[in-house]
Amino acid sequence: MGTHRGFVLWLTGMSGAGKSTLAERLVAEFQARDYKCELLDGDEVRTHLSKGLGFSKEDRDTNIRRIGWVARVLARNGVIAITAAISPYRDIRDEIRALTEQDGRAVFIEIFAHAPLEALIERDVKGLYKKALAGEIKQFTGITDPYEPPLQPEVTAYTSEEPIETSLDRILDYLAEHDLIDRGA
Ligand code: ADX
Repeated sequence: MGTHRGFVLWLTGMSGAGKSTLAERLVAEFQARDYKCELLDGDEVRTHLSKGLGFSKEDRDTNIRRIGWVARVLARNGVIAITAAISPYRDIRDEIRALTEQDGRAVFIEIFAHAPLEALIERDVKGLYKKALAGEIKQFTGITDPYEPPLQPEVTAYTSEEPIETSLDRILDYLAEHDLIDRGA
């Protein structure tokens, strides 16, 4: 078993910006090192823990607070909790950061999956931007609903501009530099 501390790796960014892909690669990396880790993915959480919630600010805040609660319970027990939800509102992300770190038992690391809106609209893997632009989906993040980028994320992944390996290396370097994980094998 490699050494690591419990922490929350909070991925934020718009739909299609690459949060889930980054998260899955991080899980694979941590599993290869025998680290305890758990992934809370927005799409999956909405099928059970947050089933029935929509996309109003109130419902998104509830969704994010639930994810934050589970993530910090895991992290304070030594697990690496990776989350991948849009989490568009800065105040709620900051609230979860403060709650995670308040008793000194876990650390909160914010990773901003950044891609310009034009790139997301062009790629549109799920076809949702097309629908949102056509007015078929209300309150769609980045089109008719806000996305508040982090002001000081620990790491930014430029997912439309750099290979994913570059982003992953930057994240792992950050974690190693801050003694959260061992230096890479
Ligand atoms: S969050 O705002 O509450 O953090 P979450 O990450 O759980 O969002 O869910 C986002 C996913 O729901 C998107 O990737 C997309 O597939 C889907 N979705 C459906 N409606 C919307 C909407 N109005 N805005 C954003 N995403 C939506």
